[in-house]
Amino acid sequence: MDQITFHHDTVLSDVHMLLPNACHLMTYLNRVGQPVFISKFKILSGAERLDNSEPNEDRGQDTNATQGEVKKEVGAVNVDTLLDEDGDLDVTHRPRTMSTEGSGRALVCPIILQQSSPELEEEDNTDDEADKCFKDIIKIEHTMATPLEDVGKQVWRGALLLADFILSEQLMFRGATVLELGAGTGLTSIIMATIAKMVYCTDVGEDLLSMCRRNVALNRHMMEPGGSEVRVKQLDWLRHDFCTDADMEFSWKEEEIADIYDNTSFIIAADVCYDDDLTDGFFRTLYQLCSNFTHTCTIFISIEKRMNFTLRHMDVSCDAYDHFCHCLSQLQELVDGRCSFQVEQLPSNFEQFLLYERIEQLELWKLTATPTSF
Ligand SMILES: C[S@@+](CC[C@H](N)C(=O)[O-])C[C@H]1O[C@@H](n2cnc3c(N)ncnc32)[C@H](O)[C@@H]1O
Repeated sequence: MDQITFHHDTVLSDVHMLLPNACHLMTYLNRVGQPVFISKFKILSGAERLDNSEPNEDRGQDTNATQGEVKKEVGAVNVDTLLDEDGDLDVTHRPRTMSTEGSGRALVCPIILQQSSPELEEEDNTDDEADKCFKDIIKIEHTMATPLEDVGKQVWRGALLLADFILSEQLMFRGATVLELGAGTGLTSIIMATIAKMVYCTDVGEDLLSMCRRNVALNRHMMEPGGSEVRVKQLDWLRHDFCTDADMEFSWKEEEIADIYDNTSFIIAADVCYDDDLTDGFFRTLYQLCSNFTHTCTIFISIEKRMNFTLRHMDVSCDAYDHFCHCLSQLQELVDGRCSFQVEQLPSNFEQFLLYERIEQLELWKLTATPTSF
């Protein structure tokens, strides 16, 4: 197996395409036959970090050289020279090049290596032990190129943006109780747990939640020194309550629900608004939680504006982002006598602790939910 097969409903996160270790070692096939990989994310130290504080017009373009080049080429060409004698467009294709020099992109298509030899397994275990000594390496088990209903098994750029924000605002989160919605592989919750006291890391689906729980276990050494804890739980935005059925894995205990209502000071969510019905469910869940809090809660949401050309608009647009903005304004305008929401977009110019493309379409939003009688 050295190629991913793409079907019409397959999605592949850029994070996996651009990881520096472009050869991905498959570790096993999961219950539904998807190849599972382990990737390492290094938390950059002081001198290694990327400083995004200076306004940089090239941001999102210099690392995204392919797009930038196309724009320049179109701008430089005299359109008349591209028409044939009948007036049809005569398009000269750019020569295909494998060179990625200066683009920052390692390889466009991940190469998959299947783990089969005992030597490799041994090497990998040695690696495991070595990594435990490093407090700056996060190991994440994930799949690649999933159907849309399994997107949580991949790591998305929004998770890395939110993780960067958490690492750059450590004082704010120290010792806090935090709830993550739609946590996927759990990467952002794990980063949060290096600072906060208790993190409830939630999503849906036993398969995904099991993977997430394994990731928490893989990175336990990062949380132990601070005595913090990550609890992986099911929280489905399309249901109206916490699942407390003791026979179900990832269900809630009454005291955990009480802890959520009494102590959650932050709710975080990365890249969870990509389908309008799910976005509605997500905002309903946010409202239900916050309107039952007796304290102020701050919510951080990262989103990637994915632009598409649609025949309906005859232009590039991002319906999912427009719907997200619509839900934000509805929350802000809400007058229900229980709680009020303030909404603001935060600048995304904080330091970069993790390696990924901080493209300009990545946004971070802050919502402040305050009980009306506060
Ligand atoms: C694009 S992924 C983002 C995952 C992770 N936050 C990240 O950025 O890598 C969207 C996440 O929303 C979760 N999700 C979708 N529907 C949900 C629902 N009804 N309730 C809770 N989570 C849901 C998915 O399982 C998935 O983990």
